[in-house]
Amino acid sequence: MSNEENYIARRDFLKLAGVGGAGLLIGSTGVGGSILASQYFAKDKKNVKNKINFYGKYQSGITTDAQKHIYFVVLTINKMSVSDVKKMFKLWTNYSVHLMNGEFVKELGDNKMLPSPDTGETIGLDANRLSLTFGISPSFFEKVGLNKHKPELLKDLPHFPKDQLDDAYTGGDICIQACSDDPQVNFHAIRNLIRVAKGEVSMKWSQAGFNSYKEKDGKIETPRNLFSFKDGTGNPSLHKQSELDKYIFIQDGWAKNGSYLVARRIQMLLETWDRTALEEQEATFGRYRHSGAPIGKEKEFDTFDPNVKDKNGENLIEKESHVSLAKASKTNLLRRSYSYSDGINSQTGTFDAGLLFLSFQKSPEQFNKIQNKMGAVDKLNEYITHRGSGIFLCLPGVQEGEYLGETLFNRF
Ligand code: HEM
Repeated sequence: MSNEENYIARRDFLKLAGVGGAGLLIGSTGVGGSILASQYFAKDKKNVKNKINFYGKYQSGITTDAQKHIYFVVLTINKMSVSDVKKMFKLWTNYSVHLMNGEFVKELGDNKMLPSPDTGETIGLDANRLSLTFGISPSFFEKVGLNKHKPELLKDLPHFPKDQLDDAYTGGDICIQACSDDPQVNFHAIRNLIRVAKGEVSMKWSQAGFNSYKEKDGKIETPRNLFSFKDGTGNPSLHKQSELDKYIFIQDGWAKNGSYLVARRIQMLLETWDRTALEEQEATFGRYRHSGAPIGKEKEFDTFDPNVKDKNGENLIEKESHVSLAKASKTNLLRRSYSYSDGINSQTGTFDAGLLFLSFQKSPEQFNKIQNKMGAVDKLNEYITHRGSGIFLCLPGVQEGEYLGETLFNRF
């Protein structure tokens, strides 16, 4: 076991055992000896099917083709020094490589008298295209005493018109986004990452989500949100480096190749939407529901023309439509959102459902500019309420031999 692993993991295993030492545990269960753990925890380490590489210029989960499910968690840190944080991110790097390989986070060993080093609910499952993305917020810098290295652009988001934020879904110091094609794989990843850092971090809020994943001719189609419209059509092209540089990734400083992530938990008033005529729904976005094409056009990726006219010279698209306003902001960002459904709002008896809106951008100003345009006048506002919010700096990608956040933490 490395020093870093010793630092957190060892202490936690004892805590997990709920006793002062492993010997006591053996005594308390009355079970002696051990059966080889591999008989019970066999997982084919060579099973690297559906694996996404952890290492790369950028972290995974940003330009990665969207998977079917997400588990997004926001953590607060307890009192931690920079060196504690560095150790934790080193350990998370190591764990993430294993998790994304579809492996256990650690060798299981053969001692059945100790809690298992991996919680085990992915036994028999492959990597399922798991991606893991780590981000840190303005309060993280404050708490660790790193304010002088906080990029100027990383600030709490301003208050926007119509925001109704709930503290239970707002703020936090660190975010971890797990996306994969199996919700159990996501949960396992997050659970084990938190488990090993327990005592150092606490959970603040989390949100699981899903999308209408569909593959056609080897390409993933634009998913639909719970208003049934295609969501993601107007994203920057992920195949053009110029677009990645222009809209998504930070270009200089220690955070180069990182990206700012805005997370908004947006409740969607499905009952109101379902009482609205299809024509009005389409006018709300400025696009057709079925094809996703701009109004007045035929295909999803046809150019959106906010001034397109009918044969009498009347405007076909309203200026307050969601897409017209986004276009008028003259900027863009990468949306990689997931729908959520969290049961029923006990006060209203309606669905508690909506969109975990996630956008990646090289400057939070891109989000602010678009949201300010939409804030008061967007036709969509009648059907949505922003309930939760977070801003994070997703760390640069990691090369083999490096660890998450190295360009920031290696100064200490
Ligand atoms: C529940 C809330 C939201 C829903 C249901 C929603 C839905 C949609 C839909 C259906 C489109 C058209 C297709 C597409 O290009 O993806 C769209 C476009 C867009 N939305 Fe949203 N959206 C929501 C919130 C937001 C927020 C908070 C922002 C940013 C502040 C945003 C920014 C954009 C942008 C930039 C576009 C692309 C416009 C273009 O074509 O250039 N959306 N949205």
